[in-house]
Amino acid sequence: MKIVIVGSGYVGLVTGACFSEVGIDVCCVDIDRTKIDNLNKGIIPIYEPGLEDMITRNMKKGRLSFTTDIASALVDAEVLFISVGTPPDEDGSADLKYVLAVARDCGKYINDYLLVVTKSTVPVGTSQKVKKALQEELDKRNVSIAFDVASNPEFLKEGAAIDDFLKPDRIVVGLESERAEDLMKSLYKPFTLNGHPVIFMDIISAEMTKYAANSMLATKISFINDIANLCEIVGADINKVRKGIGSDSRIGNKFIYPGIGYGGSCFPKDVKALIQTGSEHNYDLRVLKAVEAVNDDQKLVLFHKIMNYFNGEVQGKTIALWGLSFKPQTDDMREAPSLYIVKKLLEAGAIVKAYDPIAINEAKHHFGDSISYCDDQYETLIDADCLAILTEWPEFKFPNFKIVQKLLNTAVIFDGRNIYDKKEMKDSGFEYFCIGVDTRIDSMQLNS
Ligand code: UDX
Repeated sequence: MKIVIVGSGYVGLVTGACFSEVGIDVCCVDIDRTKIDNLNKGIIPIYEPGLEDMITRNMKKGRLSFTTDIASALVDAEVLFISVGTPPDEDGSADLKYVLAVARDCGKYINDYLLVVTKSTVPVGTSQKVKKALQEELDKRNVSIAFDVASNPEFLKEGAAIDDFLKPDRIVVGLESERAEDLMKSLYKPFTLNGHPVIFMDIISAEMTKYAANSMLATKISFINDIANLCEIVGADINKVRKGIGSDSRIGNKFIYPGIGYGGSCFPKDVKALIQTGSEHNYDLRVLKAVEAVNDDQKLVLFHKIMNYFNGEVQGKTIALWGLSFKPQTDDMREAPSLYIVKKLLEAGAIVKAYDPIAINEAKHHFGDSISYCDDQYETLIDADCLAILTEWPEFKFPNFKIVQKLLNTAVIFDGRNIYDKKEMKDSGFEYFCIGVDTRIDSMQLNS
């Protein structure tokens, strides 16, 4: 089977690579000539573990190709996936101009049946717009060619996208014809052999599933962050509360880790877009509005802790930061808490020295030379007045605390990801501030 994937961004590349990995003939299309030229040379525009290997391997096998020419890509293709960007408009709704342009191109160039599958995260009702745009182009050509539309939202996590694609919890497909169902069944067969289900449904429900899933996960995070903040005030320990509630299978252990707020390309955008869909239909999504408001505040919780510690005065203080990406295993800094924290620290007159294992180049686009970048996590600590941990990269989990203590001017750590044990930190002579643990609780109480 031959398929086309339009949009060689994060989702498109992972999707294309994984389909070609199981033997499907995949042609990836993008309007960005530089990106396509680079991909043809084996230069991958994003960092995702395992992706580069998979792309180069399948290109060599002749199963994966890259082009800017959608018309030639469509020759003999049975399925086309739309995975172009849907940047948020001013009001938070997704801008569909790229998605609909692909639909129109399909209408201009197809000569045979095509199943057009939307993979980009798009508001409820978009597949019908795709259908209309494609049909309009066929009408202009005065031809009658059968086609179907479908919705197949992705649930990939950055940093684990290949694994998520190859071994998905589930695959959601919204469609409206048997022909489309047969095609999608055979396309996803290699990924469902070990029992992971393809859940077929109508298109609108599939579109809604993506937003509901991400909004539910964002809700869990804002909820736990809210409770964490209350824990600090009343004298409780969120780490214990988290375990206490997570062991109830109805609640579950995942996605209830407190921190400095969710970031990335999906949760912030999708929560906003769903609120917007609600308001377009005169429905006020009150819970989601609160989820968003809690998250906005949470991104600055660590900044406020630092300010409190220094009695509101960080002018001239040097702050060492470990981690800038919105989460580990990615160089993505979209909506990363670090963006907000660094901005506030600089406004307050602090000097910022940062280290991230992967995201330094990305960070330079955001911060320029307003902060200094270190090649090594310990280098950030030289002459620094405190250390703040913004991303839970594995290499930060077991540092040499003796060196940390020696290099810092004052042995104080602000941990935005709760990666250390409070008692151990105290015993090693650190002042340690994390999320959701009352600093007044003494170590005896913590360990009891
Ligand atoms: C998410 C969804 O998980 C994925 O299914 C969807 O397709 C795209 O959006 P991603 O943005 O890559 O994936 O990251 P994820 O690992 O889900 O983390 C999102 C954010 O939540 C991060 O900022 C992370 O730090 C935060 N988070 C996650 C928490 O603060 N606490 C948690 O318990 C879990």
